[in-house]
Amino acid sequence: MCRSIAELCTSDHKGDPAILERWLGNKTPDVFRAWIRQSDNNLLVAIDCERVVGVGSVTDQGQITLNYVSPDARFRGVSKTLLAALECRAASRGCLFCTLNSTETARRFYLAQGYVETGVPGGHFGTSSGYPMSKSLRAGV
Ligand SMILES: CC(C)(COP(=O)(O)OP(=O)(O)OC[C@H]1O[C@@H](n2cnc3c(N)ncnc32)[C@H](O)[C@@H]1OP(=O)(O)O)[C@@H](O)C(=O)NCCC(=O)NCCS
Repeated sequence: MCRSIAELCTSDHKGDPAILERWLGNKTPDVFRAWIRQSDNNLLVAIDCERVVGVGSVTDQGQITLNYVSPDARFRGVSKTLLAALECRAASRGCLFCTLNSTETARRFYLAQGYVETGVPGGHFGTSSGYPMSKSLRAGV
């Protein structure tokens, strides 16, 4: 996850050490364990040859809070597969929509996956991105 942010999300942090420090600051093993334990959170990983190549999470309310691919596995369908699994999990919890705040880096990806922008960017750890987006989980709606 940290490599995904540092190496792939360059359009967002632009190499600014202060932004990177804020963004990576809460990506610690303890915080990560707390996300796994959170009872209304669903944390999924993508595995390739016994290696974790992606991580994503969605709350029972349909908010996608993580979706990060390893730089070693970029553009091989990992995020598409993970996103579909997160949406499936949200639907199984009764959600009608998924929502998220997209990085600049993933904006085009989410638009291609059927998300629509729902507001102005809220800023993301000091970046100018954090695009609020939403997608209906009901077919054709
Ligand atoms: C952009 C990103 C999300 C794509 O995920 P991936 O696992 O590498 O790629 P996938 O094979 O699953 O998806 C490919 C799709 O990404 C999109 N895509 C392709 N090139 C892209 C690029 N340079 N930038 C953004 N999106 C791109 C296209 O929609 C493509 O679909 P297509 O092959 O049908 O045209 C990923 O590479 C990335 O940069 N992640 C960084 C972490 C991040 O920002 N996560 C979002 C947190 S909200």
